[in-house]
Amino acid sequence: MRIGYLECTRCGDHVPADRARTICPKDGGVLYVRYDLASLKGKFCREDLSGRVASMWRYAEVLPEAEPVSLGEGFTPMLPSREFASVYIKDEGLNPTGSFKARGMSAAVTMAKSYGLKKLAAPSAGNAGSALAAYSAAAGIEAYIFMPKDVPLANRVECESYGAHVTLVDGLISDCARMVAERKEKEGWFDVSTLKEPFRVEGKKTMGYEVAEQLGWRMPQAIIYPTGGGVGLIGMWKAFEEMQDLGWIGAERPQMIAVQAAGCAPIAKAWDETTPTAEFWPNATTLASGLRVPKAYGDYLILDILKKSGGLALSVTDDEIMDALGQWARVEGIFAAPEGAAALAAYRKLRANTFFGPDDTVVLFNTGSGLKYLDVIDSQKKSEPEAALASRQIGGIIGPY
Ligand SMILES: Cc1ncc(COP(=O)(O)O)c(C=O)c1O
Ligand SMILES: [Zn+2]
Repeated sequence: MRIGYLECTRCGDHVPADRARTICPKDGGVLYVRYDLASLKGKFCREDLSGRVASMWRYAEVLPEAEPVSLGEGFTPMLPSREFASVYIKDEGLNPTGSFKARGMSAAVTMAKSYGLKKLAAPSAGNAGSALAAYSAAAGIEAYIFMPKDVPLANRVECESYGAHVTLVDGLISDCARMVAERKEKEGWFDVSTLKEPFRVEGKKTMGYEVAEQLGWRMPQAIIYPTGGGVGLIGMWKAFEEMQDLGWIGAERPQMIAVQAAGCAPIAKAWDETTPTAEFWPNATTLASGLRVPKAYGDYLILDILKKSGGLALSVTDDEIMDALGQWARVEGIFAAPEGAAALAAYRKLRANTFFGPDDTVVLFNTGSGLKYLDVIDSQKKSEPEAALASRQIGGIIGPY
């Protein structure tokens, strides 16, 4: 529907959506898109969704009014786990460009096109770049993408194939972000960095609508989300608030659980230390490249959501991620991205320490496809001694639970 205004998540100021905007001009806060949901209440109902397009654009009334740049993103399967009776796996690996980043970029590029923007730029850990490149190609817009030079091969090859301008940077996503910030004005690029552009959240929030719709409008006990910049988590929380405003759900909320990699866990550290923001994580390293985000721009939003929802943040090691990746592949038939496998590793930990019982309904987000990480996954296998690999496989089949 028509956007009402953009609202700063820090100072609450309203900013008009008449032209492309980035962050709050006053304090740099993340801007949320606000609609007149009160006027939609009672007119846009859950029942209206039946028979609609099987993409995220089925929720058109709560997305910006513009001609969608769509490649069929969203409405991904919610698969009941074969291993754990009350667990569901939301498989985002089936999106265009193989990750949930497609949702955010579909919405961002849709709005960029409607605002008449011609050149978009973003730093990316990999998958956001692939999605930006694909949607920009579909929209006839130029994309400038800055990625760490050790990004998974698929991301680089995809971006180049879609015709994006790719710069490989000897550093982390934070270094890529600095390069975009330094050059954007001179080059005439519009910056679509995570949370510095309001519409990626709008795309990603559709995961929250889908969780509710696909579970028959009953909230799960918890959602485990692999968290780097945190937009998936932030977007879903926004969706739950909107659905309550629409009268689709009540005040109940899932516990939101952020999982990070032990080699880059600024949110988990801030959670443990009960600070409202996170510190920059030095020397970030993990094979889950999407989780290698040393400082999340929306850290204050993520930490607030974890607290409000009664959730938590935790980290898992790369070994635990690789174990979980193998387990999902062998037991569920799901070949997950390492970031997604981190959700299973986190669930196992939270079951083992009895945070979750066997009857708690928990949704694990597999945020991407393992097919995007063939080089990463293969190199892990090769670097393992044969014996360790064998024992891990046995452990995986018998399993602790
Ligand atoms: C597969 C995958 N999962 C999770 C993430 C983390 O997403 P976010 O930055 O929205 O927290 C990324 C980010 O690149 C990713 O590519
Ligand atoms: Zn502000």
